[in-house]
Amino acid sequence: MKVLVAGGLGYIGSHTCLALSKAGVIPIIYDNLSNASINVLEQLTLISEHNFTFVEGDIRDQQRLEKVMVEHDIQAVFHFAALKAVGESCEQPRRYYDNNVSGSVVLLDAMANAGVKKIIFSSSATVYGDPQYLPLDELHPISATNPYGWTKVMVEQILQDNCQADNDSLAISLRYFNPVGAHPSGLLGESPNGIPNNLMPFIAQTAVGKREFVSVYGNDYDTPDGTGVRDYIHIMDLAKGHVDAFLSHQKDTGFLAYNLGTGQGYSVLDVITAFAESAGKEVPYKLAPRRSGDVACNYADASLAKQKLNWQATLGLSDMTEDTWRWQSKYPQGL
Ligand code: NAD
Ligand code: WQD
Repeated sequence: MKVLVAGGLGYIGSHTCLALSKAGVIPIIYDNLSNASINVLEQLTLISEHNFTFVEGDIRDQQRLEKVMVEHDIQAVFHFAALKAVGESCEQPRRYYDNNVSGSVVLLDAMANAGVKKIIFSSSATVYGDPQYLPLDELHPISATNPYGWTKVMVEQILQDNCQADNDSLAISLRYFNPVGAHPSGLLGESPNGIPNNLMPFIAQTAVGKREFVSVYGNDYDTPDGTGVRDYIHIMDLAKGHVDAFLSHQKDTGFLAYNLGTGQGYSVLDVITAFAESAGKEVPYKLAPRRSGDVACNYADASLAKQKLNWQATLGLSDMTEDTWRWQSKYPQGL
């Protein structure tokens, strides 16, 4: 069985291609390389000893998408292709709505014309907006606090409406918490362009000497040590979650949403301490003011995925920091 993986050379898409391939599902990778290196392809082959088919293309190119889907008899689409920087989305909202929302509509049009009925969508815990209660379950009200978040809310709504209009179609929205970590081989991981926005890559680049220190954004939150608490999930667990969601719903239709998180929160200082232990060296940090838009605490109720998909995270914080360090120290400049 072949599936199209849009955004398949990116951080989460590439790890999911490995998990799909391991499960006997053949990923056809489709990516415009706007935030990925072509060298990822070689790494995938090194790790899996399989060759992967790659098509360079944009999800806003309907003709190309239809051609690939028909040519490969695609059975489902895994849709990772999006821009994802929160701050940038506030500065360039139209670019984000065009790429993430218009792009998803074009992708759905192409699927409709090619007769592809299933989509697995990369959503985010950002669709819960400011948490009204914790842990966050799938019934928590949906909202957003920035244009990036709104693109996820909008695409989820479009997927729901699309399933209403076409009874045979299936859309699974996977709401990721904070994906971190790398492939345990150290051959594949996250390599953000420029200065990292997210905590784990910033810590990793500091540990490897590319950055002087980590700024800890706020230590006066209502959390055990005053720093922000998040639900970090290992990329290998996250990737497996996609395969389990897809295989569990082979015969189903409609719109389904699942949290993919561990249910366990860690503070910024917890992560810095764990990383220092994995790297065997101090990670310098300085306390800094709160980052605007941040909440104190955010973690998942991941019980629905356990109940319906028989999926749960198996890797802990030390696996996340060890694997990130192995990748970062092997490829300090990324791929
Ligand atoms: P990433 O940037 O590493 O991967 C996205 C991939 O999509 C890149 O390879 C990029 O080149 C490609 N792409 C972007 N726009 C495209 C387009 N128009 N046409 C074709 N390809 C395009 O990001 P990631 O961290 O792997 O995230 C994957 C998905 O998961 C995204 O939808 C993101 O919003 C979502 N997500 C990520 C996180 C996170 O913290 N990393 C959390 C929640 C949700
Ligand atoms: C984690 C914690 C920061 C950097 C973002 C998006 C979200 C989702 C995942 C896509 C917070 C603190 C961070 C630093 C710090 N992405 N921090 N120093 O903000 O929880 O979520 O990525 O869907 O939509 O908003 O992740 O890694 O940026 O921050 O102290 O240099 O680390 O304040 O408490 P966040 P993050």
